[in-house]
Amino acid sequence: MTDATTPVPRGRILVVDDQCNMRATTALLLRAEGYTVSESATGEEALGVLAQGRVDLLLTDLKMEPMDGLTLLKRALEVAPRLQVIMMTAFGSIDSAVEAMRLGAYDYVTKPFKEGELRYRVERALDRAKLQAAVANFATEFNQRHGLSALVGRSQAMRDLTTRLLRVAQSDATVLIQGESGTGKELVARALHAHSRRSGQPFVPVNCAAISETLLESELFGHAKGAFTGAVKTRRGLFEEADNGTLFIDEVTETSPTFQSKLLRTLQDGEVRRVGESTALRVDVRIAAATNRDIELEVKEKRFRQDLYYRLNVVMLRVPPLRERLEDVPALAEHFLERANARSPRPRRLSALAVEHLMTYSFPGNVRELENLVEQAAALAEADELLPEDFPLRPQGRVLPAATTPEAAGLPPTDAVRATGTEATGPTLASVVEDAERRAIIQALERHGVDLARVADELGVSSTTLWRKMKRLNLRPPAGARE
Ligand SMILES: Nc1ncnc2c1ncn2[C@@H]1O[C@H](COP(=O)(O)OP(=O)(O)OP(=O)(O)O)[C@@H](O)[C@H]1O
Ligand SMILES: [Mg+2]
Repeated sequence: MTDATTPVPRGRILVVDDQCNMRATTALLLRAEGYTVSESATGEEALGVLAQGRVDLLLTDLKMEPMDGLTLLKRALEVAPRLQVIMMTAFGSIDSAVEAMRLGAYDYVTKPFKEGELRYRVERALDRAKLQAAVANFATEFNQRHGLSALVGRSQAMRDLTTRLLRVAQSDATVLIQGESGTGKELVARALHAHSRRSGQPFVPVNCAAISETLLESELFGHAKGAFTGAVKTRRGLFEEADNGTLFIDEVTETSPTFQSKLLRTLQDGEVRRVGESTALRVDVRIAAATNRDIELEVKEKRFRQDLYYRLNVVMLRVPPLRERLEDVPALAEHFLERANARSPRPRRLSALAVEHLMTYSFPGNVRELENLVEQAAALAEADELLPEDFPLRPQGRVLPAATTPEAAGLPPTDAVRATGTEATGPTLASVVEDAERRAIIQALERHGVDLARVADELGVSSTTLWRKMKRLNLRPPAGARE
């Protein structure tokens, strides 16, 4: 029952009392305060109302027949665990009031009560209900955005990863996350933090490939005023910002030996020294580092310090490439489409054929490439139902039956590739991949010129990955290129 004269409902209260007069007076008083009030004469009836889920506060008498207030309280909290309950007790039944609180009631009032006292207790209970709802909402939203539920995909490989993640999240162990570009390493790092005891503290990401060596050092460790030209103020570093939380060191292999030794020292000592300062500061930081390289190979070829590798690799989390868990494609595609639909006035649907089409692809750009494909299709498709032709796939990424020639495998004929058919010692797989990458980048550069963000987008990699690849392949960005 609602009160039609109240413009803004202040909270929904259910009053339960088998004494008709008492119930009516209490309800009247609360309606006058602007609450939406319903009434029940028995516990059974009350449980029916509660099951509909539209009550914030239950105000119930203790002594009732056949179901008493304590039984109602217990059963009500089973139906609605977040319900606030105030028990109305007769003078002298303090033991029952205490028992009610023990069972989960928020408060009690002794009959006969003064109007002011009831008003005050009701208001306090409803404030608590609001706060609890806000906290629960926040926790759900936080978890959806950052926790494990942000990681879509129930393949065996993903389940193994999440089981391991949850186990290691409980500890403070340093974690090394390895996986190809676009597999979701950053999401994994965020989930690790969200499920750790540090989740209320900062998660601070830093991408080593995105900034220059000197800047990276002062970003991470901070600097003293005047430590170098341009250091006009003393600045805290990201290690300090992440104190009590998690520092995510992304693309950690893209750093120089000098930087690596400084990082190692910091991790060993648990202390940071700002650039240009001699005193060290203690920090309590959990480290998650990530790389999309074969880090063992980087160590073997002396590009990455072995001692730092051991220090970081206390626990390794490998994020599998999407082609090894194609069964995750439908759920991921749906997830990205739902997100695109939420931003668009024209919602789209995935056709079964389109999903089948996507599952023939090997996703060299991994989840990020699938995300881009879905977003593009949602933006550009003609019909509401997305069809295979709305997802143009790069030929070299098609998963085809074992082919005898590179051309049959969908690889464009290059000199390097062509050589494989005729020579006993062909090029290495790495050189073939490099060659294909070089040509794909050059072609995209030709199409989009100086707009590197679009180039990266088209290729299904992050701008950082593009920069890094261009550096490795000795490709200069066109003059005037912008990120
Ligand atoms: N399992 C997943 N569920 C939902 N979204 C995902 C998943 N994995 C990746 N993504 C999305 O794909 C994109 C790439 O993920 P992320 O940035 O974490 O990858 P990465 O491995 O760090 O890539 P890079 O090496 O290029 O930095 C992001 O937009 C991310 O939200
Ligand atoms: Mg990343």
